[in-house]
Amino acid sequence: MHDQASALRVLASDENRKQNKMRVLAVTSGKGGVGKTNLTVNLALALAEHGQRVLILDGDLGLANVDIAFGLTARYTIEHLLSGEKTIEEIILPGPRGIGIIPGGSGVQGLANLERDKLTFVLANLGRIEKMADLLIIDTGAGLGHTVMNFLQAADDVIMVTTPEPTALTDAYGVLKTLRKEAGEVPIHVVVNRVRSEADAQATFKRLETAVNKFLNGSLNFIGWVYDDPLVGRSIMQQEPLGISFPESSAYRCIQWIAGTFAGIYLNPPRPASGVRGFLSKLLRSF
Ligand SMILES: Nc1ncnc2c1ncn2[C@@H]1O[C@H](COP(=O)(O)OP(=O)(O)O)[C@@H](O)[C@H]1O
Ligand SMILES: [Mg+2]
Repeated sequence: MHDQASALRVLASDENRKQNKMRVLAVTSGKGGVGKTNLTVNLALALAEHGQRVLILDGDLGLANVDIAFGLTARYTIEHLLSGEKTIEEIILPGPRGIGIIPGGSGVQGLANLERDKLTFVLANLGRIEKMADLLIIDTGAGLGHTVMNFLQAADDVIMVTTPEPTALTDAYGVLKTLRKEAGEVPIHVVVNRVRSEADAQATFKRLETAVNKFLNGSLNFIGWVYDDPLVGRSIMQQEPLGISFPESSAYRCIQWIAGTFAGIYLNPPRPASGVRGFLSKLLRSF
């Protein structure tokens, strides 16, 4: 039987895999408002400086969307893809440095409740983006929602963003606990945002690590921190990402440093990327 599901299986099959696999990086947090979107956007810019071709899937339904952070307005979102009105190529917004933005809109929530035949259509569309980029960064939105967990489970790497605030840490703990239960070994990299000093960052990471050690056993990777910097707020007001408006700011420098570490991981991955096809098959399995 030739249906969309079988088309997807062909797409996801091993013999169809290419050498150059796109990595999928999911950026998440326990609590909203900790700086996920700002990190996603500027990490994309900083990775583009390393020659990475980056796509962003905007899955955060928070106040500041990725398109707005770039000063762009999405005409079409993943909803148009879900309804079959548009193809993936038609909804991608071109951003600076070759970055492509896939606007999620309220369609991302719809992803979790899609009927199976529609889902395979969407996934087959997403499968075509593999040729367009080296890396897909998903701004997942906060918390323990079904869609967020599916994205985290299917990704090659997860970035957990927290601030030193106790509430942010408690919520990060909750997400990590659920994630570990449901997705064995996805590498989790922690970014501590809005710190006053390196010591502040180290102490915050230590607190999180101590709390999760019972079930994560030292497998959290502390990848870096970002200073609390008034220029972040200024760039958001100006609707121009920090990496473009204030590339010398202390916050962007921190993000460049994190990007450098990631670029190293991608050149010498401890674990091969499963590619967008691997991501799709894992995502499909979880529905
Ligand atoms: N490093 C930082 N320094 C100062 N303000 C920050 C920093 N990171 C984020 N913010 C502020 O926090 C708010 C929330 O950031 P955002 O990226 O939208 O969070 P999220 O996507 O997690 O909801 C923004 O208004 C931004 O100005
Ligand atoms: Mg956000």
